[in-house]
Amino acid sequence: MRTIPIASPYLGKEEAQAAYDTILSGWVTQGPKVAEFETAFAEYVGSKYAVAMSNCTSALHLSMIVAGIREGDEVICPSMSFIATANSIRYENAIPVFAEVDSDYNLSLEDTKAKLTPKTKAILLVHQIGMPANIKEFQKLCDEHNLVLIEDAACAIGSSIEGQRIGSHSDLVCFSFHPRKVITTGDGGMVTTSNPKYSERLKLLRQHAMSINDRVRYESTQVIFEEYLELGYNYRMTDIQASVGIHQLAKLDIIIGERRKIAHKYIDELKQYDFIRLPIEPEGTFSNYQSFSIYLDKSSPVSRNDFMQILLDKGISTRRGVMTAHREPAHE
Ligand SMILES: Cc1ncc(COP(=O)(O)O)c(C=O)c1O
Repeated sequence: MRTIPIASPYLGKEEAQAAYDTILSGWVTQGPKVAEFETAFAEYVGSKYAVAMSNCTSALHLSMIVAGIREGDEVICPSMSFIATANSIRYENAIPVFAEVDSDYNLSLEDTKAKLTPKTKAILLVHQIGMPANIKEFQKLCDEHNLVLIEDAACAIGSSIEGQRIGSHSDLVCFSFHPRKVITTGDGGMVTTSNPKYSERLKLLRQHAMSINDRVRYESTQVIFEEYLELGYNYRMTDIQASVGIHQLAKLDIIIGERRKIAHKYIDELKQYDFIRLPIEPEGTFSNYQSFSIYLDKSSPVSRNDFMQILLDKGISTRRGVMTAHREPAHE
């Protein structure tokens, strides 16, 4: 019996009813509910636009395209991140250049500077497990070297820096609604931007680069024909997912409040053990604690795997820390 699962979606009757209503509405793919979710999401994070996607991986892929990343370009990112971070760079035949992370598991500014070359075109900054990275310093570095900053905020919905939510600082910020995240739509993603050109192109590319979308064609009183303006993709979110997302977003601050309460309880109980390094929430930042990560020092009386087994025997699920992409066959 698992008493504490690794993740448990915070879904209730409201979400079930919303999905039910959408199914019976007759419009189930990307339509009015996606538009409503996008408006609410942009308002929540404080960006001008939000563009819904099928997941964060597709959000990252299209962000690479609109940022102008092409074959042979270098994009600096952490290896220590979920594989989709590095994969999204490879989809356009660009090269992920792996830089170190600091003790908060976020990209090291110093090592990023050391990895810059004339081929560097962008930095893909990850807010690992919801802990905000130092956007200000990375934006400065990007401005100095004429690079695009792309944020992988898959885990960072509701996290903020000095009261400003992740999603409002730069022009390509990608979120995930996978069930391991703080809120979920089953699967799903979002890009936030305040650049109208990015927003328009993202909307085009996610729907086969179709000049007229389904909804406009449906609502038109004239016969109209679409064109396919460039190589596009099917990265749509469905209205069923979006109707769930609208209710999840309304609960987000409550969910984060509960997660932070639990995180602080863990910190209070675990701080007595010298061999456990606790999460670092840098000053002025606010984490959604998408995950609670600890690091066992060499002085630990138990190995990581034994520790995980002891906890599992007590019904508590854990996972090894964040993976490293450069050690995986896909990126060797
Ligand atoms: C840092 C990071 N980037 C990207 C992704 C991919 O998100 P999705 O599953 O929505 O494609 C994840 C998912 O775990 C993630 O943790």
